[in-house]
Amino acid sequence: MTTPHAVVVGSGIAGLTAALHAAASGCRVTLVTKDELEHANTRFAQGGIAGVMFDDDSAEDHVRDTLVAGAGLNDPEAVRVLVDEGPARIRELIALGVAFDRDADGALVKGLEAAHSYPRILHAGGDATGIAIERALVAHLRAGEVEVIEHAFLVDLVVTAGRVTGVDLLVGQSRTSLTADAVILATGGAGQLYEHTTNPPVATGDGIAAALRAGAAVRDLEFFQFHPTVLAVGDAFLVSEAVRGEGATLLDAERRRFAFDAHPDGELAPRDVVARAIAERMAAQHGAPVLLDATGLRPTPAETAAFLARRFPTIDAAVRARGLDWAREPIPVTPAAHYLMGGVVTDLRGRTSLPGLYAVGEAACTGVHGANRLASNSLLEGAVFGARAGDAVAADAASLAWPVAPASAPREPRDSGGVAPAFTRAALQELLWEHAGLVRDAAGLERAASVLAAWRAQPRTPCTVAEFEDDNLLAVGTALVDAALVRTASAGAHFRSDAAATPLAVPRAAAPESHADQPI
Ligand code: SIN
Repeated sequence: MTTPHAVVVGSGIAGLTAALHAAASGCRVTLVTKDELEHANTRFAQGGIAGVMFDDDSAEDHVRDTLVAGAGLNDPEAVRVLVDEGPARIRELIALGVAFDRDADGALVKGLEAAHSYPRILHAGGDATGIAIERALVAHLRAGEVEVIEHAFLVDLVVTAGRVTGVDLLVGQSRTSLTADAVILATGGAGQLYEHTTNPPVATGDGIAAALRAGAAVRDLEFFQFHPTVLAVGDAFLVSEAVRGEGATLLDAERRRFAFDAHPDGELAPRDVVARAIAERMAAQHGAPVLLDATGLRPTPAETAAFLARRFPTIDAAVRARGLDWAREPIPVTPAAHYLMGGVVTDLRGRTSLPGLYAVGEAACTGVHGANRLASNSLLEGAVFGARAGDAVAADAASLAWPVAPASAPREPRDSGGVAPAFTRAALQELLWEHAGLVRDAAGLERAASVLAAWRAQPRTPCTVAEFEDDNLLAVGTALVDAALVRTASAGAHFRSDAAATPLAVPRAAAPESHADQPI
């Protein structure tokens, strides 16, 4: 048999890990990415990577925390795989040179983030975990046999007799195609659907849109996570949940702490709960942002300033570049779109409903996150399921058998039903922010659906990357709104103001004894 050829699309932790594992398991691998290799969303991950790495932590607790955050709508088998295989993948990252922060004795430092019952988050460079991981993986990839094609945009999947057999690309001004025995989508999420997002400009849902056009099943697109704390001054900039993990509090305009009104865990409640509590408080104070107060993290302002600069150097620089001194004054923050829990349906080895097509990371939906992802489980997911897909492709190509995954019924195109404003990307982002954001209802979702249908009915002949991306955002936005209309009950990040919440079926774990970032 000839050596199987795997094409990986995307260069975040999931794509890089899949490429390295596929190469190690005997495939010829080509990795294509629409920007430069390092310019994936992974580099912006601050808080860290969760994993059961300490003797006094337990896999059962990490599983339970993941299920509680996910409102019990997770796939329990996927959660088990994530938690059980996470430590091996983290050790692999350490072996590749990722220098997770250690204390003076050389022990890994433990960090806490919201909804974790144990401080199991490893971080690197204080708050620069994503970039440390991205750089180590890229260096390893560049030193190996994987062929890399940068600035290559995925136009479409090539489907031959029901099997994905390659990709159509736009490279510079030219269209080209690659044939493949396996295509692994690792194209990340779609934060650019929203007016306010932590995601970089590349997050336009390209892989999910291509999978939709090819007829692959997608799921859970209504579950879009909004991060509670993004700087409300200047460009959107994430302020890691780890800052609240260190003890920072949320205050309203009257300087009153309000998070405990929403949940017994206060600032460390699941992300969807905190984000909605902030949005409600902002609505009550006529849109003014709430305040994140890190001033009391150490006994004096000078000690707090030194601690913040050491523990959160990236955030500290961004805060100070905006003229704010967060050691002395609370800083204004607001929620923003952060992470898509749904995506292309896969089994536990990344296989989608289309033979030859795999998906990993944020583009995929194994069901591991349920309705709301637990903090710092995303880098872990990329590492665990990226490796599993990479390990699977060579064997799958040899057998050509394809385990049947469920296909979704194709949706009827919606009637455009009326007048829509002129299409621009900004108009799309405003529409989704307003009607398919943190809080939704049937009337708003119907309005969004009809405007999206009107825009999609207009003739479009994309030529540039930006035009292809617009089409992808329209496709994914439409699927998201349709899914949000279908799910009439609230669950996790999908909050319908016109419906009750789905009761949580998972018992909560005991709270951690201390919220401080502790060395062991
Ligand atoms: C954060 O640092 O708050 C973001 C990490 C994550 O999305 O899990």
